[in-house]
Amino acid sequence: MSGEDAPAQQQNAVDQKQETKPAEEPKADPPKTESAPAGAAEAAATPAAATEKVPEEEAFTYRALVLTGYGGYDKVKLQVKKGKPALKAGEVLVRVKACGLNFADLMARQGLYDRLPSPPVTPGMECSGVVEAVGEEVTDRKVGDKVMVLNRFGLWQEVAVVPASHTFLIPEGMSFEEAAALPVNYITAYMMLFDFGNLRPNQSVLIHAAAGGVGIAATQLCKTVKDVTVFGTASASKHETISEGGVTHPIDYRTKDYVEEVRKISPKGLDIILDPLGGSDTHKAYNLLKPMGKLITYGTANMLAGQKKNLLAVAKNWYHQFSIHTLSLIQGNKSVCGFHLGYLDGETELITQAMTTILDLYKEGKVKPRIDSTWHLEQVGDAMRKMQERNNIGKVILTTEPMPEEEKKEEPKKEDKKEDKKKDDKKKDDKKKDDAKKEEKKDDKKKEEPKKEEKKEEEKKEEAKKEEK
Ligand SMILES: NC(=O)c1ccc[n+]([C@@H]2O[C@H](COP(=O)([O-])OP(=O)(O)OC[C@H]3O[C@@H](n4cnc5c(N)ncnc54)[C@H](OP(=O)(O)O)[C@@H]3O)[C@@H](O)[C@H]2O)c1
Repeated sequence: MSGEDAPAQQQNAVDQKQETKPAEEPKADPPKTESAPAGAAEAAATPAAATEKVPEEEAFTYRALVLTGYGGYDKVKLQVKKGKPALKAGEVLVRVKACGLNFADLMARQGLYDRLPSPPVTPGMECSGVVEAVGEEVTDRKVGDKVMVLNRFGLWQEVAVVPASHTFLIPEGMSFEEAAALPVNYITAYMMLFDFGNLRPNQSVLIHAAAGGVGIAATQLCKTVKDVTVFGTASASKHETISEGGVTHPIDYRTKDYVEEVRKISPKGLDIILDPLGGSDTHKAYNLLKPMGKLITYGTANMLAGQKKNLLAVAKNWYHQFSIHTLSLIQGNKSVCGFHLGYLDGETELITQAMTTILDLYKEGKVKPRIDSTWHLEQVGDAMRKMQERNNIGKVILTTEPMPEEEKKEEPKKEDKKEDKKKDDKKKDDKKKDDAKKEEKKDDKKKEEPKKEEKKEEEKKEEAKKEEK
């Protein structure tokens, strides 16, 4: 999907700070972005904000998530963009209903994902919604079509302009949430297993993060082939769910050596290994392949440790980067492939072929995205935290539905809660310290009192001696 041809309105949003157009050309003005607290963003986004005499294009506002700089969860802010995005030939305007959160979005927030332009920028590589306008030369989409969208970035907003070729019709019965969960995870899993992996009956596959978005998609796709054995690593609390979903051998990589666990069951090794981790895990994967086995490496999750960029984790990953001599490959009868959907953005035909097959499998009931949780745009920080703290089973979704006022009031941000807790704990600690000091003083006093008594006694004795003399 598009890289350089990212949606016009997205580029505008990126550029808006530098550009000032002459007042006599209001229609050519790019959408303007304003930082606003979540509530204010909503108020401004309502049609009421449009005054009667302002042209419709200018009065048009929509809420967008914007990565304002690299760092923690708070770097993604809800803002209001102003001005109706103009459509170029071949583009459609989509009213977004739901957006998918991907691991790459977490890395992008830390400045570790090179397919997202520098901030300020609206992230988001997949969404679902309804076509609200079509540009010239668009023949296969019409207003009212329900679509899912795959784009390099720019989809975490209420309105997105994208090339029509980046949209896919949502099949009957599929919810907007499912549609937003499908493109990245299923295309990635499908192309790795079938285009690179050539998965066949009776083969064995290792899937890391088997309870995550790609992991669940890959497991379901493995199950479409007869007698495939799936080894899946995941945090222990997720094992029951992934077993039910088709993982034959769940492995808790956090407490066990997954290589040893695999060898116990399959001493000769495995046919296909999907590696989203990078660093030393890529070496382990290569060594765990059977002759004629295939390693498909597609991520560097090991680089992510903590809310902000962790230089040690990044350096460790680079230091352990896997590289191999072709002679070793020949002698090992092994294959190593690399996959990155973000760099396939020009390959519309390949992507469309994969998507068509995936949607057929969906219609046959063989694959179905599993939604972990759905969050309002205002809650994007908590949504990212859920994934980053390894608590998701399946896909984390953002909805553009406005957040009910009561929920906003009820739910102080987790960050705030943590801060409050920290403050409470500090207060308690301080109180304990004060009490301890007071106790100490009391003890000292107690210790001092007998001394004073002794002193008095001695003084009395001295007096008596003097008098005797
Ligand atoms: N190359 C591509 O085109 C492409 C496309 C999509 C995704 N990917 C890669 O595929 C992987 C999975 O992506 P996803 O979007 O489906 O996310 P995901 O698997 O839902 O990601 C979250 C899960 O990953 C596991 N995990 C492993 N290492 C982690 C770490 N360092 N920090 C936090 N969680 C970690 C955790 O589960 P457990 O503890 O249960 O394992 C966590 O719950 C990522 O590495 C991503 O970059 C690559």
